[in-house]
Amino acid sequence: MRVAVIGLGYVGTTTAACLAADGHEVVGVDVNPLKVAMIGRGESPIVEDGIAERLSGAVDGGRLRATGSAADAVAGTEISLICVGTPSRADGSLDLEHLLAATETVGKALAGSDRYHVVAVRSTMLPGSLVEQVIPVLERSSGRRAGAGFGVAVNPEFLREGDAVEDFTNPPFTLIGQYDERSGATVAGLYGRIESPLVRTEVKVAEAVKYASNIFHALKISFANEMGVLLQSLGVDPFPVLDIFKMDTSLNISPAYLRPGFAFGGSCLPKDLRAALHAAELNDLDLPVLGAILPGNEAHLARGVEMIVAAGRKKVGILGFSFKAGTDDLRESPLVALVETLAEQGFDLRIYDKDVSLARLVGANKEYIETAIPNIASLLSDDLGQVVDHAEVLVIGNATPEFAAIADRAGPDTMVIDLVRIRDDVEGFGPGYRGISW
Ligand SMILES: NC(=O)c1ccc[n+]([C@@H]2O[C@H](COP(=O)([O-])OP(=O)(O)OC[C@H]3O[C@@H](n4cnc5c(N)ncnc54)[C@H](O)[C@@H]3O)[C@@H](O)[C@H]2O)c1
Repeated sequence: MRVAVIGLGYVGTTTAACLAADGHEVVGVDVNPLKVAMIGRGESPIVEDGIAERLSGAVDGGRLRATGSAADAVAGTEISLICVGTPSRADGSLDLEHLLAATETVGKALAGSDRYHVVAVRSTMLPGSLVEQVIPVLERSSGRRAGAGFGVAVNPEFLREGDAVEDFTNPPFTLIGQYDERSGATVAGLYGRIESPLVRTEVKVAEAVKYASNIFHALKISFANEMGVLLQSLGVDPFPVLDIFKMDTSLNISPAYLRPGFAFGGSCLPKDLRAALHAAELNDLDLPVLGAILPGNEAHLARGVEMIVAAGRKKVGILGFSFKAGTDDLRESPLVALVETLAEQGFDLRIYDKDVSLARLVGANKEYIETAIPNIASLLSDDLGQVVDHAEVLVIGNATPEFAAIADRAGPDTMVIDLVRIRDDVEGFGPGYRGISW
């Protein structure tokens, strides 16, 4: 394909050199004439393993050239990949000034032509940026309509500097957020040589995946650093610990626990975090990331309470009382905390949890229920139907499978507040349905 790459920094140069090496015909564009001249001479404007030879080979083979004129590049190509910088402003907000300026030059180059061309943004930008900022600039400057006159997409880049070529040629996936089918299909045409999965999704989802990824990477690094500091203070070498930790691909390095839902609880996570943080405090350690976990969890619990209070109805049915489905363990269950708060505020509550009901009769939790939460124990019902009938607001508190069918049993006026996303086709619940973060 014929491609314009706008912005020849780390992302743009890597993209241009690798696409040209894959056989595409690439024109690079930059406002910096030094970079344009370097590429003209077959030299790489960035230091990056594997780029110099790809770039010089492509320039020599006539598949890569550079220009200062976006109009020149756009005129002879089917796709523009915008790769300009999107830095932070002093207040932390995202500065799209360069991106929108580049967009405008591409839009002007499209004006007066009826040739189909796709503008795909590879730069990182917050969800909503393409539709709310980039498309209006393109439409104004081109006088054409997105989706009709030209295509638009986002195609976020996931390369790491230092491993950019390897990450380009062997990415975890190629991600395209498509404004419409034709735009997505056109961008996908660039990546035929890449074997990794190709994911085509909504624009906002693709924009957001980039942020989820980078924030998670930052969190992982900070976690490993703070664990190192904590373990060293306890006289433990962190390296074998984290090496063994990483061997667990069921819970540790895995999709487990990466699903938005309700606050964590139970007999282990809060207790063990507190013990580790207490030990850190004794050693005068500052571990702000680990220290933020319990307050973050409490804030999420408070969010659940606020949703129920905001519903403005007094009769509340709670489905699920233990900290997760399939257990009767109530220790540090966030649902116990939620119910206690609501009970104090005078809500008329009924609770259904078949495992806890059983425990009330025979299980190890019998004593806990009778001594720690005697006032709440009386709110427990063995009859799901009775709790549903009582409720003006039904709260799904844990992912017990029988709660998935609750939409069929609740009346049309019952509001459902789902803290766990009991099923993925949440539309089935109707207009009174609220998820805690979806
Ligand atoms: N660097 C990375 O590892 C990396 C990885 C993934 C995504 N990203 C994202 O990709 C984007 C680009 O990052 P980068 O590190 O390559 O930036 P960079 O600063 O290295 O390069 C940006 C280039 O754009 C050029 N430019 C600015 N305005 C222009 C315009 N109007 N027309 C043409 N060229 C213009 C600049 O001269 C510069 O050469 C950012 O949004 C960044 O967040 C970066």
